Amino acid sequence: MGFGFLQDYGYLELYGPNGHFQTDQGRAYVGYWGRGLYYPWHRHEAEEIYAVVSGSGYFESQGAEAALLKMGDTRMHNSNQPHALTMTDGPILTFVLWRGAGMAGLPLMGAT
Ligand SMILES: [Fe+2]
Repeated sequence: MGFGFLQDYGYLELYGPNGHFQTDQGRAYVGYWGRGLYYPWHRHEAEEIYAVVSGSGYFESQGAEAALLKMGDTRMHNSNQPHALTMTDGPILTFVLWRGAGMAGLPLMGAT
């Protein structure tokens, strides 16, 4: 990730391996990406659900139809399903849950 990306991105892990409540049983965090950012294709072992709290983003997931998601929409990613996110119309604020194996694993970038 470049400097510009890191200047307009942030997340807070509420519970999980690095969370305020430490556990390996799951992971929950709030994630923010600014307007125009591109979160490149990546995958991870844990299953994932994004819930859009505010704003919108263009979600791409291998094997699924791409979609512009807005407040209240959700997107599920299966274990190791590659996905990417582009902020087209503005920033996005999300609530993200992980479950299953690979809880402490980092996303593998460029994994399509
Ligand atoms: Fe992900």
